Amino acid sequence: MTQISKSPRESLTIQTHLVMPNDANQLGNLFGGQLMAWMDEVASITAFRHCGNVAVTASINNVSFTQPIPLGSYVILESKVSRSFKTSMEIYVDVYLETRNGKRSKCNEAIFLFVALDDEGNKIEVPELTPETDEEIRRFEGALRRKQLSLILSGRLKPDDALELKKLFVPITL
Ligand SMILES: CC(C)(COP(=O)(O)OP(=O)(O)OC[C@H]1O[C@@H](n2cnc3c(N)ncnc32)[C@H](O)[C@@H]1OP(=O)(O)O)[C@@H](O)C(=O)NCCC(=O)NCCS
Repeated sequence: MTQISKSPRESLTIQTHLVMPNDANQLGNLFGGQLMAWMDEVASITAFRHCGNVAVTASINNVSFTQPIPLGSYVILESKVSRSFKTSMEIYVDVYLETRNGKRSKCNEAIFLFVALDDEGNKIEVPELTPETDEEIRRFEGALRRKQLSLILSGRLKPDDALELKKLFVPITL
């Protein structure tokens, strides 16, 4: 049975990394695979905080590396649950660069889908999520469409059955 509802605040996880030579690509910028590993780790901690159990990565969607991150940068990853379903949780990871004057600029984001498991590896239900801020509400409202798109792309859902997604398209009348 689903437990009581939680807020995104309760699963907020923040990690700061300094980009070291071992993290860099041939151009002296952060290697994308290293950033993916950091994002997956911070998202898995968020999933654990929300559901109180181990959770595994089922899919990663909409990863965008919009600007290079130079060696020596301070990188902040902020991760929150944006919506929970039955056994799965959508998690947003926002990535920021911290500059010398203490300011932050957003440089990347990714959307993860985690599934909660018990100690035997069986899927378990997760607590509901109650969004609080405007951004949390916006992300919550779009999450079902993103899940349906991800299920279609992974061959788990027929486009015809993606009812929430279909609502985006206006019927064409000839
Ligand atoms: C993820 C995993 C547990 C799903 O198991 P499964 O038996 O296929 O589960 P289901 O089809 O019942 O899916 C479970 C939930 O995940 C969702 N889901 C699964 N794949 C998904 C995808 N690609 N996109 C969006 N949602 C997905 C389902 O919709 C379902 O959600 P709900 O219960 O909240 O409604 C299983 O595939 C697994 O263990 N994968 C390996 C995970 C792992 O090791 N990750 C680390 C990287 S290797």
